[in-house]
Amino acid sequence: MTSLAAPVAPLLLTPATMIGELVAARPALARLFEKLDIDYCCGGKQTLAVACSRRGLELTTTLAFLESAGALLLAGPTEVDAAAMGLAELADHIESTHHAYLKSELPRLSEMAQRVATKHGWRDARLTEVAAAVHALTEEMISHMEKEEKILFPLVRHIEKSRQPTDALAGPIRQMEAEHQSAGQLTAQLRELTDNFLPNAEACNTHRALLAGLAEFETDLHRHVHKENNVLFPRALALAAA
Ligand SMILES: [Fe+2]
Ligand SMILES: [Fe+2]
Repeated sequence: MTSLAAPVAPLLLTPATMIGELVAARPALARLFEKLDIDYCCGGKQTLAVACSRRGLELTTTLAFLESAGALLLAGPTEVDAAAMGLAELADHIESTHHAYLKSELPRLSEMAQRVATKHGWRDARLTEVAAAVHALTEEMISHMEKEEKILFPLVRHIEKSRQPTDALAGPIRQMEAEHQSAGQLTAQLRELTDNFLPNAEACNTHRALLAGLAEFETDLHRHVHKENNVLFPRALALAAA
């Protein structure tokens, strides 16, 4: 008997394709946008044409790259398909993966950044700014996740279960999106302060581990915020309005 691989629908992209919607439908494509340094989470509400022009990328070449690299990625193992999950299931997934990761990783990064600033801040003042930004990010994200876990996610689970329209979601979601924006800005500031998370020749091992940890943090934050901004929140709002 011949076994056939599951067919993958061809990737048809146009200049008007919305990036956030595309990654919501095909989460595996997230890493391509990371490679191109195109924001697909907080900045997901933009078309491919707009994103390319903002990044100075040639549109036709970029579409061709996304279609061919995307087809390869989609044929392989993928990131979880958030769009196919129930809302409670997605909230559980976000808590057990992204939130759990941040709760253990942020204090570690914060401690390392402080150590690097104390030891080497005298020769590079930016290291002190890095430590301050990581500290601020840690405080913000810990409080942000607490609000999602104690207020917003329980409300989303309740709405999915009860199917009763409510306008109680809009305010908390707006607040969470504003906080995502702020975390995104602090992360972009960290990328700039660290020359794209790349160590220089004198960087000690802690400094190198810090930069690798920050780069990983940025990737995880993009995926995390994408699942909330582009999948969980709009679907919960649609359900609450029904
Ligand atoms: Fe979250
Ligand atoms: Fe969030």
